[in-house]
Amino acid sequence: MVLGGGAREHAITKALIRTGTLSTDIIVAPGNAGIAKDAHTEPTLNANDPLAVVKFALQHQIDLAIIGPEAPLVAGVSDALRSEGIAVFGPSQKAAALEGSKSFAKEVMAAADVPTGMARECSSLEEVENAIDEFGAPYVVKADGLAAGKGVIVTSDREAALAHAAKFIDMGILVEEFLEGEEVSLFFLSDGKTVLPLSPAQDFKRVYDNDEGPNTGGMGAYSPLEWLPEGFVEEVERTVAQPTVDELARLGEPFVGLLYCGLIVTKRGIRVIEFNARFGDPETQVVLRRLVTPLAPLLHRAATGHLADGPSAQFSKEVAITVVLASEGYPDTSAPDRVITGLVEDDNVHVCHASTVSSNGELVATGGRVLSIVATAADFKTARELAYANIANIKLEGSHYRKDIAAKVAN
Ligand code: AMP
Ligand code: GLY
Repeated sequence: MVLGGGAREHAITKALIRTGTLSTDIIVAPGNAGIAKDAHTEPTLNANDPLAVVKFALQHQIDLAIIGPEAPLVAGVSDALRSEGIAVFGPSQKAAALEGSKSFAKEVMAAADVPTGMARECSSLEEVENAIDEFGAPYVVKADGLAAGKGVIVTSDREAALAHAAKFIDMGILVEEFLEGEEVSLFFLSDGKTVLPLSPAQDFKRVYDNDEGPNTGGMGAYSPLEWLPEGFVEEVERTVAQPTVDELARLGEPFVGLLYCGLIVTKRGIRVIEFNARFGDPETQVVLRRLVTPLAPLLHRAATGHLADGPSAQFSKEVAITVVLASEGYPDTSAPDRVITGLVEDDNVHVCHASTVSSNGELVATGGRVLSIVATAADFKTARELAYANIANIKLEGSHYRKDIAAKVAN
């Protein structure tokens, strides 16, 4: 069973099927109109309701629950399933605070000696003002809680930094030193003791080309990152992922699920900018697209404490890129439901659905990020051509997408 209904869950579903799981053995709850073409969906099951999910899982004798988004983790769904003896890929509510509470993440990193930027926790606007003046511009101001990718501002405009802090001050604010360098998303499967790396990806967080405009949930991604130095993944495993998982185990909250390490490669070395407690969206669309090792057994081993007993994750030499099609106004405003047409898939271009429903035989986009177009090829130039040719044929009034995903690595 996969919980969630976005493009990430569609990518997980497609990867399960591609690596050997029967589509008839997969239930996605709630799923969406695109996922329903690949597997059984349960549109009426509320993935954030622990009691409802447990009841459903017991009724259907679910042998592995894979939790996609953060909301069910925060709601305690993994704890509820685990207490019934169901294998769950997704951390406990307490361990998931690594994502939900930036101050908890900073405490864990300090205790585990994990490299990260300097930060100040602030509970008043006066403290925020002192902290931003201490670090200087560009200012990095983060809401200390879940804000759907919109809680962070990076700006040289002091007034804008303070206005952002004022908006989220009730959650608590973290002011951070600005870190300069390339961003890397690196995922680790964890069974609470052992970690197992997946392949690095880069996410494009800003809404417009050339990293302009506000932050979003992610407008595109590519994998692998051929420009990373030799030994990068091993270094992150040794200095970031393993010590973090060890520290959570020491705190009595073993982290079982996906540890998403959001990193910046600075001149002074690797720094963590954030942890997430789940697969990243849209990075999953490219990372799992390249996975060769059967996914279900890997996640089952993580869920049951046996990661050390089996093979590591292998990836295709092919590259993958994903371009996100967003609805009008995203990320600031939400568009009305609109019909979407022109979707085509083939061996090299897959479409993962995020917010689509079927209505009277038509496909309808319901706002936010709507689709992830995922293309694979021998090189990034070809993968970009395939993805952009595909997305150009999709018709959705007012929709927009970035034109520069993986442009720097395509030559
Ligand atoms: P977060 O939600 O913490 O990942 O932040 C969202 C985005 O803001 C990141 O992907 C970065 O692009 C940017 N960001 C966050 N923290 C920093 C930092 N300390 N220095 C520079 N950019 C940052
Ligand atoms: N792509 C960023 C995230 O999933 O948080």
